[in-house]
Amino acid sequence: MMELSAVDLLKVVPFQAGQVKLLSHKCSGELIMELESLSLYAPRPVMADRSIFASFLSALDSTTLRGFVSTALAAVLVLSTTTTFAQAKEQPIPRIVKKDGRYALFVDDAPYFILGAQVNNSSGWPEMLPKVWPAIEFMHANTVEIPVYWEQFEPRPGRFDYSVVDTLLAQAREHQLHLVLLWFATWKNGSQHYMPEWMKLDPERYAHVIDEQGRALDSPSPFAAASLEEDTRAFAALMSHLKTADPQRTVLMVQVENEPGTGGNMRDHSPIAQKLFDGPVPADVLKAMHVQMSGPSPNWKEAFGPDAEVCFHNWAVAKYIGQVAAAGKAAYPLPLYVNAAPGTQRGAALRDPARPGGTASYKDGGPSGNIIPIWKVAAPALDMISPDDYATDATGYVKMLDVYQRDDNPLFVPETGGSPRFFFFALGHQTIGWSPFGMDFTRIHTIPDAARPGDEVLPPWARTGTKEFVAPFAPAYQLIHPMAREIARLNFEGKLQAVAEEQDKVTQTLSFGAWDAVVSYGVWSRYGHPTGNPQPMGGALVAQLKDNQFLVAGFHCRVDFQTITPDKHRQFLRVEEGIYENGSFKFVRLLNGDQTDGGLDFSSEPLVLRVSVATY
Ligand code: DGJ
Repeated sequence: MMELSAVDLLKVVPFQAGQVKLLSHKCSGELIMELESLSLYAPRPVMADRSIFASFLSALDSTTLRGFVSTALAAVLVLSTTTTFAQAKEQPIPRIVKKDGRYALFVDDAPYFILGAQVNNSSGWPEMLPKVWPAIEFMHANTVEIPVYWEQFEPRPGRFDYSVVDTLLAQAREHQLHLVLLWFATWKNGSQHYMPEWMKLDPERYAHVIDEQGRALDSPSPFAAASLEEDTRAFAALMSHLKTADPQRTVLMVQVENEPGTGGNMRDHSPIAQKLFDGPVPADVLKAMHVQMSGPSPNWKEAFGPDAEVCFHNWAVAKYIGQVAAAGKAAYPLPLYVNAAPGTQRGAALRDPARPGGTASYKDGGPSGNIIPIWKVAAPALDMISPDDYATDATGYVKMLDVYQRDDNPLFVPETGGSPRFFFFALGHQTIGWSPFGMDFTRIHTIPDAARPGDEVLPPWARTGTKEFVAPFAPAYQLIHPMAREIARLNFEGKLQAVAEEQDKVTQTLSFGAWDAVVSYGVWSRYGHPTGNPQPMGGALVAQLKDNQFLVAGFHCRVDFQTITPDKHRQFLRVEEGIYENGSFKFVRLLNGDQTDGGLDFSSEPLVLRVSVATY
């Protein structure tokens, strides 16, 4: 049954005597309702969106009819809020759950894995969506990360335009996809480019960061009280709207801002900022950062020495975002997170966990790994600090995951690039989701068609939004999509391990109690030895289903099992090839003979095996 709510209604038109027709943008059909039955409900104050109600009425010309329809629509709206008409079944609100030190995102009360795809920055407009959904389908993602632009959402102060959000909700549902909304507001890559025009035109009120020389930078000040007030109000409005417009929980989480901080500058030098910088560091920050000093409360310089400015700016930005997040969470408690832009972006704007260096190498105010504790105390309404992991080498990639997978921080990778095999690293770090950036067919316009002279190939950021760019991610997603719930559950229960190929490392061993799973790369014959793929490209996941039974899947590798019992050998009892249907493993055939004598081989084709082993 189609689920409708008040905001989905577009029109009420007269039908036959005593009846009205209700039309919605959500379905091509129409609903006929008896006025008589509706008139049982006295017209009451409309509880839903008054402006929609008013625009319906103003579209009608007969006064009498207006009276009828007003009764009908008021009833419908009241009914829809009590769900009798709408039948929009309320699902449980998505939430982060922690058990035995592991995290999961619960959707419909069970672990869910975000097999994500983030669209390009300007692809969240309704006219662009026809170029988004085909890419998502082609990629086999289950969740789309898509921006909500403050400049669109609040074109005039206090006037919120929900139309684009509602279009996203409706179309995502049609495509059976979930959404993670990205609130592009005060910060977008360290700048204030998504603030509404009326704010941009008033830089005195909506202040910028001031540098040491007193110049305004292209970055919002975290001390601008008016900006904080506007952002808090707008974000709360967005979340309140989602609460009523999304009982289906199409939206799973919301990212608050985007890559906050101030690229290339350490902190605000405005008078108010300077005063705070010279003042005492809040006690909770000192405690979180394990700073112990005798004597009176230290100021930032005394407490953090060369890291003082970075810590101070992070605290200020986190405090601001924490308040925005808290207001949103109070309206509707979805999981909220900020994304961090570590290391490899913006000329090492944030600290690179793989190559830390001094503060000069990560001038910014965003949540670098070493500063996460400050964010935790300054912005407790955030569920996660999430790394945009664009490292291109395996070591750097894994290091980033290591840093953000913490006991107090569920791992989620909201943006990524590099090799598709890194998906397996993230899975092996129990991430709740993973999402490559630039996944649509909009073809961004800022990049010339050809590579610059001297470039052999276009850099990755120049190719986003094309089929060629999306395609390499599709096989892993095609593999995981039908089993994503199972993967999320196994990971939450600590039964799953995953690895990807690293340069000059031809085997990796995963330990499962009495068994080791050995993943090797570049084995070119049945009984050959691993030499590594010409380029690292392999990856595998192994999950223990029972003591002697495993789920195995992967690409470009061989997986085998070894018993740890001395003088014993492994034998395969059953190697079942299967497919996942409705979340369950469905047997296709037994593999044996040439297909298993050397081990379990995985190529470029998605393949899932359920393997039972024994010793002899
Ligand atoms: C990281 C940002 O968060 C994205 O919005 C986008 O600007 C990408 N960088 C571009 O590579």
